[in-house]
Amino acid sequence: MKILLIGASGTIGSVVLEEMKKDAEIITAGIENSDITVDTTSPESIKQMYEQVGTVDAIVNTAGIEHYGFLKEMTPEQNQIAVQSKLSGQVNLVLLGMDALSDNGSFTLTTGILMDDPIVKGASAAMANGGVRAFVKSAAIEMPRGLRINHVSPTILEVSVEKNGHLFEGFEPVSSRRIGLAYRKSILGAQTGEGIYVY
Ligand SMILES: NC(=O)c1ccc[n+]([C@@H]2O[C@H](COP(=O)([O-])OP(=O)(O)OC[C@H]3O[C@@H](n4cnc5c(N)ncnc54)[C@H](OP(=O)(O)O)[C@@H]3O)[C@@H](O)[C@H]2O)c1
Repeated sequence: MKILLIGASGTIGSVVLEEMKKDAEIITAGIENSDITVDTTSPESIKQMYEQVGTVDAIVNTAGIEHYGFLKEMTPEQNQIAVQSKLSGQVNLVLLGMDALSDNGSFTLTTGILMDDPIVKGASAAMANGGVRAFVKSAAIEMPRGLRINHVSPTILEVSVEKNGHLFEGFEPVSSRRIGLAYRKSILGAQTGEGIYVY
C-alpha cells in the first residue's frame, strides 16, 4: 500500500506517519522537510505534487493553519487564512486528486472539535472544520471508482497541550495512539462520508 501524507512533519502528521509506516510506503509532502514540496493554498502547487506522486492508495491530509483571535477583532483577511489553508486547501486536494488514487482508494481530511464544542477565539477554525465536514459528506456520494472519503476530527492532543492548552481549558486531551488509530480506521476501514471523532 502506498500513502501520500500531506503535513507529515506536523504534530498530527508525525502521529499518522508513525501509525502507518509499518503497513505502507509513505510519501510525505509539506512546505519543507518532506519528500515533496507542496503549498496546499495553491492549486498549481497541488497539481505539481500530484504529477510527481503518480498513483497512490490513500491520500491523507493533516496540513492546515487557522487564525485564533477574538471575533470582535477578527478581520476578513485573518479569516481567509483558515479558508485558504484548512477549507479550500483540503477541498482542492480532493478536487485535483481523484485521478491520483487507485480504485477503491481513500481520502482522509482533518477537521477538529471546535465545530462541535466552541472556544473563545475559535470561530474561524470552527468555520473551516464545519465546511470540510459538509464537503466530505456530500463528496462521498459522488466519488468514482469506489473511492472513499472521510475526515478525522481530533480534540486537543496530549502532545499539543504545552503549546495550545491555554485555549482549551476543560478539554480532556487525547493520546497520540487514539489519533493514529482514527486515521488508520479511515485509511483501512470501509466507511465513507463519515467523521471519525476522537473526543
Ligand atoms: N494538534 C492538535 O491538538 C489538533 C487538534 C485538533 C485539530 N487539529 C488540526 O489538525 C491540523 C494539523 O494540526 P497540527 O497540530 O498537526 O499542526 P502543525 O504541527 O502546525 O503541523 C502542520 C503541518 O502542516 C504543514 N502545512 C501548513 N501549512 C501548509 C500548506 N499551506 N501547505 C502544505 N503544508 C502545510 C506544516 O508544514 P511546515 O512545518 O513545513 O510548515 C506542518 O507539517 C490543523 O488543521 C489543526 O487545526 C490539531
